[in-house]
Amino acid sequence: MLTILVINSKGGSGKTTLATNLASYYASKKVRTAIMDYDPQGSSMQWLRVRPDEVEKIQGANAAPAKGAAPLRSLQAWIPVETEVMIIDAPAGVKGLLLQELVRRSNFIVIPVAPSPIDIHATADFIKELFLFGGARTSKANIAVVANRVRRASSPVYGSLERFLNSLKLPFLTSIRDSDNYLHAAEKGVGIFEMDEVTTSMERRELMPILKWLNGQFANRFGSRLEDRTLSIEGSRKFAAFRTGTHHLTVLSATGRFKSYPVFPKRRVL
Ligand SMILES: Nc1ncnc2c1ncn2[C@@H]1O[C@H](COP(=O)(O)OP(=O)(O)OP(=O)(O)O)[C@@H](O)[C@H]1O
Ligand SMILES: [Mg+2]
Repeated sequence: MLTILVINSKGGSGKTTLATNLASYYASKKVRTAIMDYDPQGSSMQWLRVRPDEVEKIQGANAAPAKGAAPLRSLQAWIPVETEVMIIDAPAGVKGLLLQELVRRSNFIVIPVAPSPIDIHATADFIKELFLFGGARTSKANIAVVANRVRRASSPVYGSLERFLNSLKLPFLTSIRDSDNYLHAAEKGVGIFEMDEVTTSMERRELMPILKWLNGQFANRFGSRLEDRTLSIEGSRKFAAFRTGTHHLTVLSATGRFKSYPVFPKRRVL
């Protein structure tokens, strides 16, 4: 089983939105998927409750501590043994032992961040916590950051975050724009990849780098189930390249690995 942790201690950054959309993507590809909801607000569980009968089933497990209980490692939640992908929806404010426990269980960690300077600052602090006390430094997990609720794809507020990520060598996968389609999806218990392809083309395109990053590293496990038109990485589109800083170009290869190159002069950046 592969475990994808969606986490940021900052509230409202898009953890549940990303977790539910990733889960619905894998479920729609007939990968046996479960969501583990660590958030006492239970937003992912609520999303699962309204999920229509006609879409693929996603198992849910409520891992949030009961009111008044300390969120410690003894926390238990059950998912079926045949689960292939488990997505963990982390709560806001996560730290300490729970943070360590979540990091320890994960193969991939995706950190959504909203574009305000306050969110970016809080996220930078969270990433420090993740490495200094969360065990990320020694964990097996691959870690990446995703911008969420962006109004302009090239918002300059990300400059400082990009520089910080560069210094840690963490990839910044994509910018997801603010879109009502995410609200519709949340309301109906579905994900973007289960909605009309034409009206969700922008959202699909923006989510694609996350899926490429994940799938590039575990595609073989699921064989042809993850091969589709939207995720094709053949021919001339073998590499996706994007800027991660003023003088660096990060290249995402067909195998899902990142390479960061210094780029001189600046004009040669793609
Ligand atoms: N890209 C987006 N476009 C439009 N609305 C969004 C987008 N991402 C998130 N939202 C909305 O923003 C709100 C907060 O998002 P979400 O619940 O996913 O954040 P969260 O990090 O899980 O919050 P919490 O820390 O409270 O658990 C929700 O109402 C969600 O529907
Ligand atoms: Mg949430």
